[in-house]
Amino acid sequence: MKTVALTIDGKKIEAPQGQKVLWAALDNDIYIPNLCALREKSTQDASCRLCWVEIKGKAQPVTACTETVEEGMVVNTRGASALRLARTALELLLASNEVDCANCPANGACELQKIAAHLGVKLKTKRFRKILRDLEVDSSSPDFSYDPNKCVLCGRCIWFCRQRLGIGALGFAHRGFKRRMTTFADRPMAESGCLDCAKCVAVCPTGALTLKKS
Ligand code: FES
Repeated sequence: MKTVALTIDGKKIEAPQGQKVLWAALDNDIYIPNLCALREKSTQDASCRLCWVEIKGKAQPVTACTETVEEGMVVNTRGASALRLARTALELLLASNEVDCANCPANGACELQKIAAHLGVKLKTKRFRKILRDLEVDSSSPDFSYDPNKCVLCGRCIWFCRQRLGIGALGFAHRGFKRRMTTFADRPMAESGCLDCAKCVAVCPTGALTLKKS
């Protein structure tokens, strides 16, 4: 396997040719916030807008999940412009998230908690006006629950269900603030094409999809 040499945050590393900066950083213990990327995907949606980095020679920050490593590349994950963009993206996400960690089954394993700590953003940030979606929790599956109020619309579960498992029970509906992950015709999970494999739970970065206690 051919590799390229690059520098991330002053650390000299080698990464497989063609790899994205996000995976090169994570593989070398350099954290970059991310919610929507999955290693198995050949192209990333880059929809969460959290993985901003600065690259020497580029005028603007770029998303690490879509930027390919290059020989001699110099990456800065802690630049002011990149951090400002990531913090704003996170605060916008939190503005429509109820943030009730104490009562959330994902408490302690939620990517939002990790990202907020990394970026120095309070989970109860008041920078943007809070507008909650107030959607119904779907507990119809015997194995897992889906709380759309905690969904960050990363699309990981949709991709996994369709492309990896070949089921396609999940999808996005509506646009803008009303956008949500749901089933075909917005049916409860138990009445949709969902096979109750609950494998989508493993790729959910928040407490939106959680296993029921047995
Ligand atoms: S991980 Fe790069 S935009 Fe979401």
